[in-house]
Amino acid sequence: MAAQNLEILMSLAKRRGFIFPSADIYGGASGLFDMGPLGVELANNLKKLWWQTFIYGRRDMVGVDTAIITPSAVLKASGHVDSFSDPLIECANCRIRLRADHFEIGEGEAGWQARWAQECAKHAKRSEVSAKDREKAATAFAYFTENHQEATFWQAITCPACGERQFTEPRQFNMMFKTNLGAVESDTNVAYLRPETAQGIFVNFANVVDTSRLKVPFGIGQIGKAFRNEITVGNSLFRVRELEQAEIEFFVKPGEDEVWHEKWIDLLEDFCVNTLGLKKENLRRYAHPKEKLSHYSKGTTDLEYNYPFGGYQELAGIANRTDYDLKQHQEHSKQDLSYFEEATKERFQPFTIEPSLGIGRAILAVLVDAFQDYPEGRDGSGEAETVLHLAPKLAPYRLAILPLMKKDGLAEKAEEIWDQLAGDYNIAYDTSGSVGKRYRRQDEVGTPFCVTVDYQTLEDGTVTLRDRDSMEQVRLSVAAVREKITSL
Ligand code: GAP
Repeated sequence: MAAQNLEILMSLAKRRGFIFPSADIYGGASGLFDMGPLGVELANNLKKLWWQTFIYGRRDMVGVDTAIITPSAVLKASGHVDSFSDPLIECANCRIRLRADHFEIGEGEAGWQARWAQECAKHAKRSEVSAKDREKAATAFAYFTENHQEATFWQAITCPACGERQFTEPRQFNMMFKTNLGAVESDTNVAYLRPETAQGIFVNFANVVDTSRLKVPFGIGQIGKAFRNEITVGNSLFRVRELEQAEIEFFVKPGEDEVWHEKWIDLLEDFCVNTLGLKKENLRRYAHPKEKLSHYSKGTTDLEYNYPFGGYQELAGIANRTDYDLKQHQEHSKQDLSYFEEATKERFQPFTIEPSLGIGRAILAVLVDAFQDYPEGRDGSGEAETVLHLAPKLAPYRLAILPLMKKDGLAEKAEEIWDQLAGDYNIAYDTSGSVGKRYRRQDEVGTPFCVTVDYQTLEDGTVTLRDRDSMEQVRLSVAAVREKITSL
């Protein structure tokens, strides 16, 4: 997708009520977004599909919903208090803050320059990198190459916002949002907004084992908000400070972890392609090199999506967290978090495989993948149109009901049909403008089917059902329409 189309998509997302900047009337808040009426439907459908696939669809899985505010002890044990941080550099002149690891030279000259040019464009509020940005990046790189003997790397590069050479040395910045439980601010009641949903699962491991009849291998899934005070945010929902994750902690016997790791990479990829409908050619796997692994991981493979900003980037991660988390919580809480296997009479600390999907990043990928611009239209009218070819189960509206006219009892009949079909799905109702215009309005938000109520409906009760993608129209009874949308 071209950058220009990304802009059209993002403005569509706001104009049609998918995604709004949070606190918009106060100028917005960086890294925070609100879901509008259509966005919340898309997000709910996506989460429902995840839950149906991985919780209802598997005998070895259960779900939980754990507290967001997390006592410090939990995150001290997990390692987040000490090491959930990113290296931050700050320009002493204009005070912009950047993630130092985004600009390490290790990736080579071309990669570095491309990133730096992108940062220049971002600060100049341009969606596309210009020749000037590339020139600036080349100058910054050349200067660095000539001067890095005398100055440190960070002193030798120019700020992409103000052009000065006054960056501070990187310092670690902990990304968790801190608070206190109760009215008194004290060191003994410190808590954090959870930075991942995973820890709520680990601390409930024994509760779930005790209350369910699950045996290892089994998994616990959760969908919920997580919070990260990211140094830099951007690209709509891609990097935000309040995010949503769909995570599974899948507990396996040590020694079986690598096979399960591979299995979960396949399962999550299959979900993205065959359930969410993402094009396989837009996805790829990226195995993290050993030196870049998180403190808890023995191996992590990301599913990367080819986003229109910056190419392939992380959509989901599947980590082999070993027995790290259960061991840490066992040690810190002094509770037994081992597992006793009846069949072999063995006691062990399970290993954990963790498939983690970002809901916002999935929404973004689904929108980018589904978006199609038709500058000449599809119906021979020559009028430009946009279609979101969303998987029908994801679409904010499953169906739209459109009376041909408001008069002659057609609107009343359409409302009657709406009442008959409503309840299980979100159904649009639109009476304004020509039917062609209304079809286009629904195509633009991805509604897979439109039902038109016309004079024949008054006579024999049949309606016209129009398919978004093929634009084919068929005459059906209302009962047949119900069957069609239910059978999806
Ligand atoms: N529990 C493991 C974990 O949290 P992660 O790679 O840091 O691992 C998992 O995050 C997923 O959450 C990512 O693959 C991404 O989809 C999403 N994610 C992480 N940080 C994000 C952010 N700042 N904004 C939006 N999504 C984010």
